[in-house]
Amino acid sequence: MAQKVRKAVFPAAGLGTRFLPATKAQPKEMLPLVDKPIIQYGVEEALASGADNIILVTGRGKNAIEDHFDVSVELETFLEARGKTELLNEIRKISNLINVSYVRQGEPLGLGHAVLVTRTLVGPEPFAVILGDDVIDANPPALRQMIDVFEELDGPVLAIEEVPKQDVSAYGIIDAEEVRPGVYRIRDLVEKPTRDEAPSNLAIIGRYVLTPDIFPALEETAKDRTGEIQLTNGLRRLLRERPIYGCRIDGVRHDTGNKLGFLRAVVYFALRRPDLAGPFRDYLRGIDLGQATGARR
Ligand code: UTP
Repeated sequence: MAQKVRKAVFPAAGLGTRFLPATKAQPKEMLPLVDKPIIQYGVEEALASGADNIILVTGRGKNAIEDHFDVSVELETFLEARGKTELLNEIRKISNLINVSYVRQGEPLGLGHAVLVTRTLVGPEPFAVILGDDVIDANPPALRQMIDVFEELDGPVLAIEEVPKQDVSAYGIIDAEEVRPGVYRIRDLVEKPTRDEAPSNLAIIGRYVLTPDIFPALEETAKDRTGEIQLTNGLRRLLRERPIYGCRIDGVRHDTGNKLGFLRAVVYFALRRPDLAGPFRDYLRGIDLGQATGARR
């Protein structure tokens, strides 16, 4: 029987250059979708999927993430004194996620390298990797859907989404056989292929359930042209030794790592909020940039 997936790794040591200048002094993982930082959506998904041991890979300038998941005594005392119980509970809910560990990735040498630095913390058990940029609204949660497949097939599982042909070069793409609706056995994977090279339009998105044999595979994986160790290349190496599966995620994904995706996610999650949906929808319907344009003239 497959071992339980208890640990979830969050690589968060990238530089977030696509969001400069916002990310000059704060990590992109802390940008909010409405009032919740992006990283918290992923952490809540991991917890709801049964992985309650959170491992964050951080780098320079990421202290805000650590503070966010830490207890803030001043804030709690203040909210308590003012009788703001609802907010207090919300804040405590975050710091009660006691099982958070941190590991530094000295230099951002790629996603594969970020996973490699968690080796000691993960140890000899299966684990999840969640890229916080991909925020997925799904029920059951995306990671839970994948863990179900992992528990059945007992091999690494990658999250898959069908993407338009013109977008394949932004993703790792799989060549695979569909073994049952939404579950694939992977034959090969290619990192960011051109449209003509792409074996399919099945893209790997930001969720992985991995087994500890990924670590030696990553150690043997050469750096790519940009000097980074790619997780996809490590998986390709591992594929020589064992079957790897794909699981098509049933849910709505937003890639908040680019500006348009981020804006869409903000609107989407605002419209999902009962306290904001009505007035916000009215605002969007009646939006008139006439005045603003006029002001610039
Ligand atoms: P991205 O390439 O999307 O993130 O990496 P980035 O480098 O932060 O952003 P841009 O492209 O400069 O705007 C995908 C994920 O892998 C993590 C990132 O933090 C992000 O969550 N990552 C990437 C690392 O932790 N370490 C790395 O060396 C590279």
